[in-house]
Amino acid sequence: MHSAELSIVVPTYKERGNVAELVRRLDAALAGIAWEAIFVDDNSPDGTAQAVKDLAAGDSRVRCLRRVGRRGLAGACIEGMLSSASPFVAVMDADLQHDEKVLPQMLARLKGGADLVAGTRYVEGGNAGSFSQSRGAISRLATRLTHRLVGTNLSDPMSGFFMMRRDRFDDIAPRLSPVGFKILLDIAATGGERLAIAEQPYVFGTRFDGESKFNAQIGVEFLGLLLAKMTGDLVDPRFLFFAIVGTVGLVVHLIALSLALAMIPDQFRAAQALATLVAMTSNFLLNNELTYRDRRLKGIAMFRGFLLFCLIGSVGALTNVDLASWLYSERQVWWVAGAAGAIMGALWNYAMSTLFVWRAR
Ligand code: GDD
Ligand code: MN
Repeated sequence: MHSAELSIVVPTYKERGNVAELVRRLDAALAGIAWEAIFVDDNSPDGTAQAVKDLAAGDSRVRCLRRVGRRGLAGACIEGMLSSASPFVAVMDADLQHDEKVLPQMLARLKGGADLVAGTRYVEGGNAGSFSQSRGAISRLATRLTHRLVGTNLSDPMSGFFMMRRDRFDDIAPRLSPVGFKILLDIAATGGERLAIAEQPYVFGTRFDGESKFNAQIGVEFLGLLLAKMTGDLVDPRFLFFAIVGTVGLVVHLIALSLALAMIPDQFRAAQALATLVAMTSNFLLNNELTYRDRRLKGIAMFRGFLLFCLIGSVGALTNVDLASWLYSERQVWWVAGAAGAIMGALWNYAMSTLFVWRAR
C-alpha cells in the first residue's frame, strides 16, 4: 500500500464513544484519497486510546499516539502533526462537530496553491448554528480581537478545524505554544504573511457523544496568546497577566484608599496601610486564578500561600507605606503618593511570589 497523502490528526480526551463513528465517516468522505488518521490521546481515563487501538487492529490507516503525563489540545495537535510523513495534514475534533465532507475540497485548495485552509463557521455558506449564545459571543469577540491585535485574516481564528502543507508546518512548529485551544491562531500568527491562507466554510454540527472540554480557563489562555503575539513574543504571557493583575490591584488600592481617607481624613498612614491589605488580598486571588492558574493553590495550600504572600508582601508594604507617607508629607498629593507606594510593593511581590509562593514543581 502507498503511504498516505493526507494525515488527519484527531486530538482526543474522553472521546471513546466517537472514534469508531469518526473513522466510518472519514472512510465514506475520503474515497479515492490515500489517508490515515492519527489520534492523539492524553491518556483519557475512559479508555479512548484502547478504543482507537482496537480500530487500528483491523484498519492500518488508523494510528494512536498515546501521551502520558501531559494535557493540552494545542500540544496534542502539534505532536500529531509532527508524527506525520504525508505531504498534507489536517486537524479535526473527534466529536463529529467538524464536517468531514469538506475535507476533499480543503485538500483541493492546498493543491491549488494555498499553504493552509481554515475551516470556518462564519463566512457565507458557513454556519455556527449549534453554538450556544454565550459561546457564540466569546467566539465573535475573539475573532474581532484577533483582527485588531494580530492582523491575520481569519474569520474563525478559534477553530480547531484546518488543513495545511506539512512542510510549512514543520518550519513553524518549533515556535508554537503547546498550551490551550488556540493552535490555528498560533500557526497563522507565527507563519505571518508568507503563509497563504484560504478559508473553507462548513456547518458546525452538534457533539455526537461525550461533553465539551472548553472552559473559561481556555478563554483566558487565548487572551494570553493574543497579548504575547501583540508584543512580538518578547514578553512572557505570565508576566503580562501579572502586570494586568497589578494594574487592577492599583485601581483597587486607590479606591480603597479614597474610601478609607473619607472615613479617617487625617490618618493617611493608616488609610494607606488598609488599602494595601485590600489590594494584596485581591492580587493574591486574581494571581491564583489567572497568572499562576497552572500552579493554582487550593485548600490548605492556598491558605499557606496567602500567608506567605502576606509575609513577603508585608516587607514590600513597609517600604510602600514609608515611601507613600514620605511622598505625601512632601507634596500632599494623595494619589501620587499612594500609587508610587503600591508600584514599589508590586514589583517586590512579583519577584518573590514567583520564587516562593507559586513555585514551579
Ligand atoms: N489530546 C487532547 N488533550 N485532546 C483534547 C484536550 C486535551 O487536553 N482537550 C480537548 N481535546 C479534544 C477533544 O477530545 C475534542 O476532540 C477536541 O479536542 C475539541 O474539544 P471540545 O471539548 O469538543 O471543544 P469544543 O467543541 O467545546 O470547542 C470547539 O470550539 C473551540 C473554540 O471555538 C472546537 O471546535 C475547538 O476546536 C475550538 O477551538
Ligand atoms: Mn467539540
